[in-house]
Amino acid sequence: MSNTYALQARGLVKRFGAITAVDNLDLQVEPGVTYGLLGPNASGKTTLIRLLMGILPPTRGQSTLLGRPVPDRVLRTRLGYMPQALALYEDLSVQENVSFYARLMGNYTPARVEEAVGLVDLSARAKSIVSTLSGGFKRRASLACALVHQPAVLFLDEPTVGIDPHLRVEFWNHFQRLNQQGVTIVVSTHIMDEAERCTRLGLLYQGRLIAEGTAKELRERAKADTMEQAFLAFSDESKAPP
Ligand SMILES: Nc1ncnc2c1ncn2[C@@H]1O[C@H](COP(=O)(O)OP(=O)(O)OP(=O)(O)O)[C@@H](O)[C@H]1O
Ligand SMILES: [Mg+2]
Repeated sequence: MSNTYALQARGLVKRFGAITAVDNLDLQVEPGVTYGLLGPNASGKTTLIRLLMGILPPTRGQSTLLGRPVPDRVLRTRLGYMPQALALYEDLSVQENVSFYARLMGNYTPARVEEAVGLVDLSARAKSIVSTLSGGFKRRASLACALVHQPAVLFLDEPTVGIDPHLRVEFWNHFQRLNQQGVTIVVSTHIMDEAERCTRLGLLYQGRLIAEGTAKELRERAKADTMEQAFLAFSDESKAPP
């Protein structure tokens, strides 16, 4: 597989018993872009992210990240992950959680922790114990943990669920800045105006990539006015009997 892509997957399959969560999927993502994964519940978004990161072994197929075959221990510190189910230590403060992840990834400085906490607008609550925070604030803390070590590739699984509109826009502005610095982002979302902000989109349906392109290309191809309509049109097309 070529090294010009930040991420490349070929023939990825993941089965859980009778369920095929990811079904013979090919994917290529160029460096410095935001690649959005759209798809209904249970279409395989989280599973695909976990396969691409090397957290989950595929049933079949292979993938590379930053030119290295996955899984690879060296890659670990170069990846950031904001899981759908948040992985925070509830009995530690925001600052302690973020510091922990920075140390785990071997890139700790107090300034970096402060910056990451500031970025998610949690400086005023840095010393608060996570269990005492609101749901949205916990998500903000989780994003700070994913960003603190300045990863080259960021995997964000529905990062803005429960985040208020103002901060959501701030998050996406920040993702754009990260792209400009060369960071590659893979993000899953159900929010169509976020989809519009992705460089490219992949529509997942029953573990298969049923359409790919920019939001504009997908809308045009589906002859739809909105991304939501385009998504529904592609899903209906996949449902139709051959
Ligand atoms: N560890 C597991 N064991 C068994 N089945 C699993 C496991 N993880 C995922 N699945 C199944 O794989 C399919 C895809 O799940 P996945 O979580 O990847 O979907 P998703 O697109 O992220 O959905 P959502 O939008 O609800 O987050 C589902 O049918 C799910 O039940
Ligand atoms: Mg999911």
